[in-house]
Amino acid sequence: MNAALTQPPPLALYVHLPWCVRKCPYCDFNSHQPRGEAPFAAYVEALLHDLEAQLPDIWGRRLESVFIGGGTPSLFPPEALDTLLSGLRARLPLRPDGEVTLEANPGTADRAYFRGYREAGVNRLSLGIQSFDDTMLARLGRIHGAAEARSAVEHARAAGFEAINLDLMFGLPGQTLAAGLADLEAAIAQDPGHISWYQLTLEPNTYFAARPPELPEDTLVEELFARGQSQLAAAGYTRYEVSGYARPGQACRHNRNYWMFGDYLGIGAGAHGKLTQVHEGRILRRTKPRQPEAYMAAPQQHQDHPVPPQERPFEFLLNALRLVDGVPAASFEARCGLPLARLEPALSALRDEGLLVADAQRLQATDKGLAFLNDVLERFLPERTPRDAIATPIAWPASREED
Ligand SMILES: C[S@@+](CC[C@H](N)C(=O)[O-])C[C@H]1O[C@@H](n2cnc3c(N)ncnc32)[C@H](O)[C@@H]1O
Ligand code: SF4
Repeated sequence: MNAALTQPPPLALYVHLPWCVRKCPYCDFNSHQPRGEAPFAAYVEALLHDLEAQLPDIWGRRLESVFIGGGTPSLFPPEALDTLLSGLRARLPLRPDGEVTLEANPGTADRAYFRGYREAGVNRLSLGIQSFDDTMLARLGRIHGAAEARSAVEHARAAGFEAINLDLMFGLPGQTLAAGLADLEAAIAQDPGHISWYQLTLEPNTYFAARPPELPEDTLVEELFARGQSQLAAAGYTRYEVSGYARPGQACRHNRNYWMFGDYLGIGAGAHGKLTQVHEGRILRRTKPRQPEAYMAAPQQHQDHPVPPQERPFEFLLNALRLVDGVPAASFEARCGLPLARLEPALSALRDEGLLVADAQRLQATDKGLAFLNDVLERFLPERTPRDAIATPIAWPASREED
Protein backbone atom coordinates (compact mmCIF):
# COMPACT_ATOMS: atom_id res chain seq x y z
CA MET A 1 0.00 0.00 0.00
CA ASN A 2 1.77 3.18 -1.13
CA ALA A 3 -0.94 5.22 -2.79
CA ALA A 4 -1.58 7.61 0.09
CA LEU A 5 1.00 10.26 -0.82
CA THR A 6 -1.45 13.11 -1.33
CA GLN A 7 0.75 16.17 -1.38
CA PRO A 8 4.47 16.82 -1.46
CA PRO A 9 6.14 18.09 1.72
CA PRO A 10 8.01 21.43 1.95
CA LEU A 11 11.01 21.73 -0.35
CA ALA A 12 14.54 22.93 0.52
CA LEU A 13 17.75 23.22 -1.50
CA TYR A 14 21.19 21.95 -0.50
CA VAL A 15 24.19 23.29 -2.44
CA HIS A 16 27.52 21.49 -2.04
CA LEU A 17 30.78 23.44 -2.52
CA PRO A 18 33.46 20.75 -2.30
CA TRP A 19 36.82 22.46 -1.68
CA CYS A 20 38.84 23.10 1.48
CA VAL A 21 42.23 24.67 2.16
CA ARG A 22 43.31 21.41 3.78
CA LYS A 23 41.56 18.14 4.58
CA CYS A 24 40.98 17.74 8.33
CA PRO A 25 42.04 14.32 9.69
CA TYR A 26 38.60 13.49 11.16
CA CYS A 27 36.52 14.61 8.18
CA ASP A 28 34.62 12.22 5.94
CA PHE A 29 32.68 14.84 4.03
CA ASN A 30 33.05 15.10 0.28
CA SER A 31 35.75 17.77 0.49
CA HIS A 32 38.89 18.13 -1.58
CA GLN A 33 42.07 20.15 -1.52
CA PRO A 34 42.19 21.91 -4.91
CA ARG A 35 45.32 22.02 -7.00
CA GLY A 36 45.82 25.76 -7.21
CA GLU A 37 42.76 27.96 -7.04
CA ALA A 38 39.40 26.23 -7.23
CA PRO A 39 37.41 27.00 -10.42
CA PHE A 40 34.80 29.14 -8.66
CA ALA A 41 33.04 30.68 -11.66
CA ALA A 42 32.93 27.45 -13.70
CA TYR A 43 31.60 25.54 -10.70
CA VAL A 44 28.78 28.06 -10.15
CA GLU A 45 27.90 27.72 -13.81
CA ALA A 46 27.74 23.93 -13.38
CA LEU A 47 25.51 24.34 -10.30
CA LEU A 48 23.03 26.42 -12.26
CA HIS A 49 22.97 23.83 -15.07
CA ASP A 50 22.41 21.14 -12.49
CA LEU A 51 19.52 23.08 -10.99
CA GLU A 52 17.96 23.72 -14.38
CA ALA A 53 18.08 20.03 -15.27
CA GLN A 54 16.20 19.20 -12.05
CA LEU A 55 13.53 21.90 -12.40
CA PRO A 56 10.99 19.66 -14.22
CA ASP A 57 10.92 17.46 -11.10
CA ILE A 58 9.70 20.29 -8.88
CA TRP A 59 7.49 22.45 -11.10
CA GLY A 60 5.15 24.69 -9.15
CA ARG A 61 6.96 24.22 -5.85
CA ARG A 62 8.64 26.90 -3.77
CA LEU A 63 11.88 26.70 -1.80
CA GLU A 64 11.56 27.18 1.94
CA SER A 65 15.30 27.40 2.62
CA VAL A 66 18.76 27.09 1.08
CA PHE A 67 21.86 25.62 2.74
CA ILE A 68 25.26 26.18 1.14
CA GLY A 69 27.56 23.62 2.72
CA GLY A 70 30.84 21.95 2.14
CA GLY A 71 33.69 21.71 2.04
CA THR A 72 34.42 25.33 2.77
CA PRO A 73 31.91 27.59 1.03
CA SER A 74 33.67 30.65 2.50
CA LEU A 75 36.52 30.03 0.03
CA PHE A 76 34.19 31.27 -2.71
CA PRO A 77 34.40 35.00 -3.51
CA PRO A 78 31.16 36.94 -2.87
CA GLU A 79 30.73 37.59 -6.60
CA ALA A 80 30.47 33.84 -7.21
CA LEU A 81 27.89 33.49 -4.42
CA ASP A 82 25.99 36.45 -5.81
CA THR A 83 25.85 34.82 -9.26
CA LEU A 84 24.70 31.60 -7.63
CA LEU A 85 21.96 33.13 -5.49
CA SER A 86 20.62 35.47 -8.16
CA GLY A 87 20.69 32.52 -10.59
CA LEU A 88 18.68 30.46 -8.10
CA ARG A 89 16.10 33.16 -7.58
CA ALA A 90 15.70 33.65 -11.33
CA ARG A 91 14.94 29.95 -11.75
CA LEU A 92 12.66 29.10 -8.87
CA PRO A 93 10.83 30.93 -6.10
CA LEU A 94 12.32 31.15 -2.62
CA ARG A 95 9.93 32.22 0.12
CA PRO A 96 10.53 35.89 0.97
CA ASP A 97 11.76 35.23 4.51
CA GLY A 98 13.52 32.00 3.46
CA GLU A 99 16.55 30.97 5.52
CA VAL A 100 19.77 31.02 3.46
CA THR A 101 22.70 29.53 5.38
CA LEU A 102 26.36 29.45 4.38
CA GLU A 103 29.06 27.42 6.14
CA ALA A 104 32.29 29.26 6.84
CA ASN A 105 35.65 28.14 8.19
CA PRO A 106 37.25 30.67 10.60
CA GLY A 107 40.55 30.10 8.79
CA THR A 108 39.04 31.72 5.71
CA ALA A 109 36.96 34.35 7.52
CA ASP A 110 37.21 37.70 5.82
CA ARG A 111 35.05 40.65 6.79
CA ALA A 112 34.66 41.93 3.22
CA TYR A 113 33.73 38.43 2.03
CA PHE A 114 31.18 38.08 4.83
CA ARG A 115 29.68 41.47 3.94
CA GLY A 116 29.49 40.38 0.30
CA TYR A 117 27.70 37.15 1.26
CA ARG A 118 25.18 39.12 3.30
CA GLU A 119 24.57 41.46 0.36
CA ALA A 120 24.15 38.46 -1.94
CA GLY A 121 21.27 37.25 0.25
CA VAL A 122 22.88 34.88 2.75
CA ASN A 123 21.11 35.54 6.08
CA ARG A 124 22.57 32.84 8.36
CA LEU A 125 26.23 32.01 8.89
CA SER A 126 27.40 28.68 10.30
CA LEU A 127 30.96 28.90 11.61
CA GLY A 128 33.05 25.73 11.90
CA ILE A 129 34.72 26.73 15.17
CA GLN A 130 35.22 23.18 16.59
CA SER A 131 37.07 24.46 19.66
CA PHE A 132 38.34 27.67 21.26
CA ASP A 133 41.44 25.88 22.53
CA ASP A 134 44.61 26.25 20.42
CA THR A 135 45.97 22.86 21.51
CA MET A 136 42.75 21.08 20.51
CA LEU A 137 42.54 22.94 17.22
CA ALA A 138 46.09 21.88 16.39
CA ARG A 139 45.28 18.25 17.25
CA LEU A 140 42.24 18.46 14.97
CA GLY A 141 44.48 19.70 12.16
CA ARG A 142 42.44 22.87 11.83
CA ILE A 143 43.81 25.75 9.78
CA HIS A 144 42.83 28.31 12.42
CA GLY A 145 43.48 29.07 16.08
CA ALA A 146 41.25 30.37 18.86
CA ALA A 147 41.94 34.01 17.99
CA GLU A 148 40.67 33.49 14.41
CA ALA A 149 37.64 31.65 15.79
CA ARG A 150 36.76 34.69 17.88
CA SER A 151 37.39 37.18 15.12
CA ALA A 152 35.25 35.12 12.72
CA VAL A 153 32.27 35.73 15.02
CA GLU A 154 33.14 39.43 15.17
CA HIS A 155 33.39 39.64 11.37
CA ALA A 156 30.05 37.90 11.01
CA ARG A 157 28.37 40.42 13.32
CA ALA A 158 30.09 43.39 11.67
CA ALA A 159 28.88 42.11 8.29
CA GLY A 160 25.29 42.24 9.56
CA PHE A 161 24.58 38.58 10.34
CA GLU A 162 22.02 38.20 13.10
CA ALA A 163 21.57 34.44 12.75
CA ILE A 164 24.87 32.78 13.66
CA ASN A 165 25.60 29.12 14.39
CA LEU A 166 28.81 27.87 15.97
CA ASP A 167 29.82 24.25 15.28
CA LEU A 168 31.69 22.87 18.28
CA MET A 169 32.99 19.36 18.88
CA PHE A 170 33.66 17.53 22.16
CA GLY A 171 35.38 14.33 23.21
CA LEU A 172 38.52 15.61 21.49
CA PRO A 173 41.95 13.94 21.70
CA GLY A 174 43.30 14.45 25.23
CA GLN A 175 40.38 16.67 26.25
CA THR A 176 39.70 16.86 29.99
CA LEU A 177 36.29 17.48 31.53
CA ALA A 178 37.34 21.00 32.54
CA ALA A 179 38.68 21.78 29.06
CA GLY A 180 35.50 20.52 27.36
CA LEU A 181 33.29 22.62 29.62
CA ALA A 182 35.53 25.67 29.19
CA ASP A 183 35.23 25.27 25.44
CA LEU A 184 31.46 25.26 25.63
CA GLU A 185 31.53 28.26 27.93
CA ALA A 186 33.71 30.10 25.41
CA ALA A 187 31.15 29.37 22.69
CA ILE A 188 28.27 30.57 24.88
CA ALA A 189 30.26 33.72 25.71
CA GLN A 190 30.12 34.62 22.00
CA ASP A 191 26.32 34.71 22.38
CA PRO A 192 25.32 32.96 19.12
CA GLY A 193 21.64 32.10 18.51
CA HIS A 194 22.52 28.50 17.69
CA ILE A 195 25.19 26.01 18.77
CA SER A 196 25.74 22.60 17.14
CA TRP A 197 27.61 20.46 19.67
CA TYR A 198 28.89 17.26 18.12
CA GLN A 199 30.77 14.40 19.72
CA LEU A 200 33.89 13.70 17.65
CA THR A 201 33.50 10.37 15.86
CA LEU A 202 36.22 8.43 14.11
CA GLU A 203 34.77 7.93 10.64
CA PRO A 204 35.94 5.19 8.28
CA ASN A 205 38.29 6.26 5.48
CA THR A 206 39.73 9.19 7.39
CA TYR A 207 43.28 9.83 8.62
CA PHE A 208 42.06 9.43 12.22
CA ALA A 209 40.49 6.05 11.40
CA ALA A 210 43.87 4.82 10.17
CA ARG A 211 45.84 6.43 13.01
CA PRO A 212 43.38 6.84 15.86
CA PRO A 213 44.29 9.57 18.38
CA GLU A 214 43.78 8.84 22.04
CA LEU A 215 40.25 9.88 22.88
CA PRO A 216 38.89 10.49 26.40
CA GLU A 217 37.24 7.60 28.27
CA ASP A 218 33.52 7.04 27.69
CA THR A 219 32.71 7.92 31.29
CA LEU A 220 34.43 11.30 30.93
CA VAL A 221 32.59 12.01 27.66
CA GLU A 222 29.27 11.04 29.25
CA GLU A 223 29.87 13.39 32.15
CA LEU A 224 30.98 16.16 29.81
CA PHE A 225 27.82 15.68 27.77
CA ALA A 226 25.55 15.75 30.83
CA ARG A 227 27.21 18.82 32.36
CA GLY A 228 27.37 20.52 28.98
CA GLN A 229 23.62 20.05 28.54
CA SER A 230 22.98 21.83 31.85
CA GLN A 231 25.41 24.60 30.91
CA LEU A 232 23.63 25.15 27.58
CA ALA A 233 20.18 25.04 29.17
CA ALA A 234 21.23 27.54 31.86
CA ALA A 235 22.40 29.90 29.11
CA GLY A 236 19.01 29.72 27.37
CA TYR A 237 19.79 27.18 24.64
CA THR A 238 17.12 24.53 24.15
CA ARG A 239 18.19 21.18 22.77
CA TYR A 240 15.79 20.63 19.87
CA GLU A 241 17.73 17.99 17.96
CA VAL A 242 20.36 15.37 18.86
CA SER A 243 23.22 17.88 18.38
CA GLY A 244 21.33 21.16 17.91
CA TYR A 245 20.79 23.81 20.60
CA ALA A 246 19.03 27.09 19.93
CA ARG A 247 17.75 30.23 21.57
CA PRO A 248 14.00 30.85 20.98
CA GLY A 249 13.22 31.22 17.27
CA GLN A 250 16.79 30.34 16.22
CA ALA A 251 16.45 26.63 15.37
CA CYS A 252 17.76 25.85 11.90
CA ARG A 253 14.71 25.67 9.63
CA HIS A 254 16.64 23.94 6.86
CA ASN A 255 17.85 21.11 9.08
CA ARG A 256 14.44 20.80 10.70
CA ASN A 257 13.03 20.08 7.25
CA TYR A 258 15.42 17.12 6.93
CA TRP A 259 14.42 15.76 10.30
CA MET A 260 10.72 16.10 9.41
CA PHE A 261 11.31 14.04 6.29
CA GLY A 262 10.72 17.02 4.02
CA ASP A 263 11.95 17.14 0.43
CA TYR A 264 15.16 18.72 -0.80
CA LEU A 265 16.96 19.17 -4.04
CA GLY A 266 20.70 18.65 -3.89
CA ILE A 267 23.01 20.38 -6.34
CA GLY A 268 26.79 20.12 -6.49
CA ALA A 269 29.41 17.36 -6.36
CA GLY A 270 28.12 14.39 -4.38
CA ALA A 271 25.02 16.26 -3.21
CA HIS A 272 21.99 14.23 -2.12
CA GLY A 273 18.36 14.98 -2.84
CA LYS A 274 15.05 13.53 -1.70
CA LEU A 275 11.92 14.04 -3.76
CA THR A 276 8.33 12.95 -3.25
CA GLN A 277 6.51 12.26 -6.51
CA VAL A 278 2.87 12.22 -5.51
CA HIS A 279 1.37 11.06 -8.82
CA GLU A 280 3.78 8.17 -9.13
CA GLY A 281 3.39 7.31 -5.42
CA ARG A 282 7.20 7.43 -5.19
CA ILE A 283 9.87 8.81 -2.92
CA LEU A 284 13.22 9.15 -4.63
CA ARG A 285 16.73 9.56 -3.30
CA ARG A 286 19.01 11.25 -5.78
CA THR A 287 22.81 11.41 -5.79
CA LYS A 288 25.20 13.45 -7.92
CA PRO A 289 28.71 12.43 -9.06
CA ARG A 290 31.13 12.84 -6.14
CA GLN A 291 34.35 14.04 -7.77
CA PRO A 292 34.25 17.76 -8.55
CA GLU A 293 35.81 17.21 -12.01
CA ALA A 294 33.34 14.47 -12.95
CA TYR A 295 30.50 16.59 -11.66
CA MET A 296 31.57 19.67 -13.60
CA ALA A 297 31.93 17.63 -16.78
CA ALA A 298 28.29 16.49 -16.54
CA PRO A 299 26.41 18.48 -13.89
CA GLN A 300 23.02 17.26 -15.09
CA GLN A 301 23.93 13.63 -14.34
CA HIS A 302 22.40 11.89 -11.34
CA GLN A 303 21.30 8.54 -10.02
CA ASP A 304 17.85 7.94 -8.60
CA HIS A 305 16.98 5.27 -6.04
CA PRO A 306 13.30 4.88 -5.15
CA VAL A 307 12.76 4.31 -1.43
CA PRO A 308 10.55 1.19 -1.33
CA PRO A 309 7.64 1.22 1.13
CA GLN A 310 9.31 -1.30 3.45
CA GLU A 311 12.29 1.05 3.94
CA ARG A 312 10.26 4.21 4.57
CA PRO A 313 9.44 3.64 8.26
CA PHE A 314 13.13 3.31 9.17
CA GLU A 315 14.16 6.30 7.06
CA PHE A 316 11.36 8.43 8.44
CA LEU A 317 12.12 7.58 12.07
CA LEU A 318 15.88 7.90 11.57
CA ASN A 319 15.15 11.56 10.94
CA ALA A 320 12.04 12.30 13.02
CA LEU A 321 13.31 10.81 16.28
CA ARG A 322 16.35 13.10 16.19
CA LEU A 323 13.97 15.94 17.02
CA VAL A 324 13.69 16.20 20.79
CA ASP A 325 9.97 17.06 20.53
CA GLY A 326 9.43 14.37 17.89
CA VAL A 327 6.77 14.83 15.21
CA PRO A 328 2.98 14.46 15.05
CA ALA A 329 2.17 10.79 14.43
CA ALA A 330 -0.05 11.83 11.50
CA SER A 331 2.96 13.15 9.60
CA PHE A 332 4.17 9.56 9.16
CA GLU A 333 1.19 8.78 6.90
CA ALA A 334 1.46 12.09 5.01
CA ARG A 335 5.21 11.81 4.40
CA CYS A 336 5.52 8.06 3.82
CA GLY A 337 2.18 7.26 2.17
CA LEU A 338 1.74 4.32 4.55
CA PRO A 339 -0.69 3.58 7.38
CA LEU A 340 0.63 4.30 10.87
CA ALA A 341 -0.60 0.84 11.86
CA ARG A 342 2.40 -0.47 9.99
CA LEU A 343 4.65 0.69 12.84
CA GLU A 344 2.79 -1.45 15.38
CA PRO A 345 3.57 -3.51 17.41
CA ALA A 346 7.07 -1.97 17.57
CA LEU A 347 5.65 1.40 18.76
CA SER A 348 3.68 -0.17 21.62
CA ALA A 349 6.65 -2.23 22.72
CA LEU A 350 8.95 0.84 22.74
CA ARG A 351 6.35 2.86 24.67
CA ASP A 352 6.08 0.07 27.24
CA GLU A 353 9.87 0.03 27.57
CA GLY A 354 9.94 3.79 28.18
CA LEU A 355 11.92 4.54 25.01
CA LEU A 356 9.11 6.44 23.26
CA VAL A 357 6.69 8.87 24.93
CA ALA A 358 3.32 7.32 25.76
CA ASP A 359 1.32 9.78 23.62
CA ALA A 360 -0.21 7.99 20.63
CA GLN A 361 -0.51 11.33 18.79
CA ARG A 362 3.27 11.81 18.71
CA LEU A 363 6.33 9.93 17.57
CA GLN A 364 8.85 11.10 20.12
CA ALA A 365 11.76 9.52 21.92
CA THR A 366 12.02 9.84 25.71
CA ASP A 367 15.35 11.02 27.18
CA LYS A 368 16.29 7.37 27.51
CA GLY A 369 15.18 6.71 23.92
CA LEU A 370 17.37 9.57 22.68
CA ALA A 371 20.34 8.13 24.54
CA PHE A 372 19.72 4.72 22.90
CA LEU A 373 18.44 5.94 19.55
CA ASN A 374 20.21 3.23 17.55
CA ASP A 375 18.49 0.51 19.57
CA VAL A 376 15.13 2.18 18.99
CA LEU A 377 15.72 2.48 15.25
CA GLU A 378 16.87 -1.09 14.96
CA ARG A 379 13.28 -2.22 15.59
CA PHE A 380 12.23 -0.62 12.33
CA LEU A 381 14.98 -1.93 10.10
CA PRO A 382 13.60 -3.71 7.06
CA GLU A 383 14.71 -7.32 6.91
CA ARG A 384 18.15 -8.03 5.54
CA THR A 385 19.41 -4.46 6.10
CA PRO A 386 22.86 -4.49 7.70
CA ARG A 387 22.82 -3.08 11.20
CA ASP A 388 25.54 -0.54 10.39
CA ALA A 389 23.02 1.29 8.17
CA ILE A 390 21.97 2.91 11.44
CA ALA A 391 25.31 4.59 11.93
CA THR A 392 24.98 6.25 8.53
CA PRO A 393 22.34 8.94 8.60
CA ILE A 394 20.91 8.39 5.14
CA ALA A 395 19.55 11.89 5.01
CA TRP A 396 22.68 13.64 6.23
CA PRO A 397 22.54 16.82 4.20
CA ALA A 398 26.09 16.87 2.94
CA SER A 399 27.58 14.08 0.94
CA ARG A 400 29.88 11.87 2.97
CA GLU A 401 32.81 9.68 2.11
CA GLU A 402 30.98 6.33 1.94
CA ASP A 403 28.67 7.42 -0.90
C1 LIG B 1 30.24 19.73 6.84
S1 LIG B 1 31.16 20.21 8.19
C2 LIG B 1 31.49 21.79 7.47
C3 LIG B 1 32.06 22.91 8.26
C4 LIG B 1 33.29 23.59 7.69
N1 LIG B 1 33.81 22.93 6.57
C5 LIG B 1 34.37 23.55 8.74
O1 LIG B 1 34.83 22.48 9.05
O2 LIG B 1 34.72 24.61 9.22
C6 LIG B 1 29.96 20.49 9.46
C7 LIG B 1 30.37 20.16 10.87
O3 LIG B 1 30.33 18.77 11.12
C8 LIG B 1 31.13 18.49 12.27
N2 LIG B 1 31.93 17.29 11.99
C9 LIG B 1 32.63 17.01 10.88
N3 LIG B 1 33.25 15.80 11.00
C10 LIG B 1 32.94 15.32 12.23
C11 LIG B 1 33.27 14.14 12.97
N4 LIG B 1 34.08 13.20 12.47
N5 LIG B 1 32.74 13.99 14.21
C12 LIG B 1 31.94 14.91 14.73
N6 LIG B 1 31.58 16.05 14.09
C13 LIG B 1 32.07 16.26 12.87
C14 LIG B 1 32.03 19.71 12.48
O4 LIG B 1 31.65 20.39 13.64
C15 LIG B 1 31.76 20.55 11.24
O5 LIG B 1 31.87 21.92 11.49
S1 SF4 C 1 35.93 19.49 8.49
FE1 SF4 C 1 35.28 21.18 7.20
S2 SF4 C 1 37.21 22.29 6.71
FE2 SF4 C 1 37.80 20.27 7.45
S3 SF4 C 1 38.03 19.05 5.59
FE3 SF4 C 1 35.93 18.70 6.40
S4 SF4 C 1 34.67 20.12 5.32
FE4 SF4 C 1 36.79 20.80 5.07
